[in-house]
Amino acid sequence: YKRITTKSLIEMKANGEKISMLTAYDYTMAKIVDTAGIDVILVGDSASNVMAGHETTLPITLDQMIYHASSVVRAIERALVVVDLPFGSYQSDPKEALRSAIRIMKESGGHAVKLEGGKEIKDSIKKILNAGIPVMGHLGLTPQSIYKFGTYTVRAKEEEEAEKLMEDAKLLEKLGCFALVLEKIPAHLAEKVAKSISIPVIGIGAGGGVDGQVLVIHDMLGMNNEFSPRFLRRYMNLYEGMTTAISQYVADVKSSDFPNANEQY
Ligand code: KIV
Ligand code: NA
Repeated sequence: YKRITTKSLIEMKANGEKISMLTAYDYTMAKIVDTAGIDVILVGDSASNVMAGHETTLPITLDQMIYHASSVVRAIERALVVVDLPFGSYQSDPKEALRSAIRIMKESGGHAVKLEGGKEIKDSIKKILNAGIPVMGHLGLTPQSIYKFGTYTVRAKEEEEAEKLMEDAKLLEKLGCFALVLEKIPAHLAEKVAKSISIPVIGIGAGGGVDGQVLVIHDMLGMNNEFSPRFLRRYMNLYEGMTTAISQYVADVKSSDFPNANEQY
């Protein structure tokens, strides 16, 4: 694929090709992620945590999401850019949801939006889709509802919640969503969902029986040494690498080792 579209992802699922997805929130990081060959970049509202230092995803605003997304869009040549609609920008009514989605598409140049929830927000999803804006769903652990859940533990372990999740997944497919994120649910349930619908299911903490995987880039690069859920695989220890490099810089400045004769004009 020269350029990933929502159609490419649906084809990938049909061909059994797994979909790779990572978050990015700025130009420099997005350029690296895109060049490395990622299929989908998610401008997640996890920016609220990893970029802004908030405890939850709730505080980030639509304007802030647009700032992050526009920075990412300027960097990419191949990846599909999906942008989270932040908490408060779509829950009150479908018209507001559409207005928020339109702002993201117009002001950031992103290619699609992601919303958390199923049946509760079906009218909003319909309205956004009717405007020609692709929608990615998000079920399971939906962090914008953390105050309802109370904890970030695994969702849909009980039969009732698992059944609702399956119904919601089928509804999202029927409405016309192009893909679906499943976060932190039992692997067997995620696999069952992926087999029951034709749109790609991208998992995070949802096992290997789905159509693709997503991680937060700061977590997988090991920039964050505090967050260690079971589902996280660290591909680097950037926290340590960066701390060592910066300590060395501090020492070199203090000792007048930096700059040397070749590092000046
Ligand atoms: O905001 C985010 O990073 C996400 C992913 C974890 C799916 O929604
Ligand atoms: Na998110």
